[in-house]
Amino acid sequence: MSTTTAESLVAMRLEGKVALITGGASGIGESTARLFVKHGAKVLIADVQDELGQSLCKELGTEDIISYVHCDVTCETDVRNAVDLAVSKYGKLDIMYNNAGITGDAELRATDTDGDNFKKVLDVNVLGPFLGAKHAARVMIPAKKGCILFTASVVSLAYLGTPHAYNTSKHAVVGLAKSLSVELGEHGIRVNCISPYAIPTPLLVNLLDISDKRKAEETISTNGVLRGAVLETEDIAKAALFLASDEAKYVSGVNLPVDGAYTHDNQTWKVGL
Ligand SMILES: NC(=O)c1ccc[n+]([C@@H]2O[C@H](COP(=O)([O-])OP(=O)(O)OC[C@H]3O[C@@H](n4cnc5c(N)ncnc54)[C@H](O)[C@@H]3O)[C@@H](O)[C@H]2O)c1
Repeated sequence: MSTTTAESLVAMRLEGKVALITGGASGIGESTARLFVKHGAKVLIADVQDELGQSLCKELGTEDIISYVHCDVTCETDVRNAVDLAVSKYGKLDIMYNNAGITGDAELRATDTDGDNFKKVLDVNVLGPFLGAKHAARVMIPAKKGCILFTASVVSLAYLGTPHAYNTSKHAVVGLAKSLSVELGEHGIRVNCISPYAIPTPLLVNLLDISDKRKAEETISTNGVLRGAVLETEDIAKAALFLASDEAKYVSGVNLPVDGAYTHDNQTWKVGL
């Protein structure tokens, strides 16, 4: 095999695959859409930020490669429609990345936490991913293969000073992924989570209430463990790429931390919140 052929094989790790990414208009989802397209996948972005999602698609390619669908992950009809659209447009669904999420109100004390806000966070961060997995499984089971991913969080493993509803939701999604990985294993479907440490996406910048991205990065780095590296959305996209690719063919039921060992350090968040 010539070097050029070997290089291009390594470069296109999702050739022929179809992916649906929720929350794909911004942050981690956006970076993942970019990387998946680069690696040969056809991608359907599902989000509620229509303009952002559509302009990203325009930037990344033509409709036969990447497209956008409005999808509120808490609405089962929207989720069913998004999955069916991926299949009708691109012929199948290989990768369902349940990534959309919110933090909800920034309130940290249980006594001040609003019940409706708590329910909303669980709806977006747990019910939404469940519906995504349910409808993905509907089309993946007959195909006898597939990959379902969830963006959980480092807060599924350690306390990080984020609100109770958010922490609860991320623990729940890890439990959901474990349980699905067992049920769906007999159909050849792998189910995994990725648990990032902090990255200054709109979600975190709003929560930290730090509008200056550089300052947010500094706060995050100061509180982290690993020195000399700054966690970026592209790093999470790369973890998703590995888990979605055939290189991870026997990896299922895993919650992969991308946290620079934050969860092994017995420390609390020192600066910021
Ligand atoms: N940024 C971090 O530090 C961090 C760390 C760990 C985990 N996460 C998780 O990563 C995921 C992506 O977040 P991000 O940091 O990229 O933030 P982000 O705000 O950039 O992206 C989140 C996306 O989800 C979409 N979304 C929100 N509610 C939705 C709904 N009901 N239906 C469809 N889409 C919806 C938003 O429109 C947005 O495009 C979330 O699940 C988040 O909890 C983020």
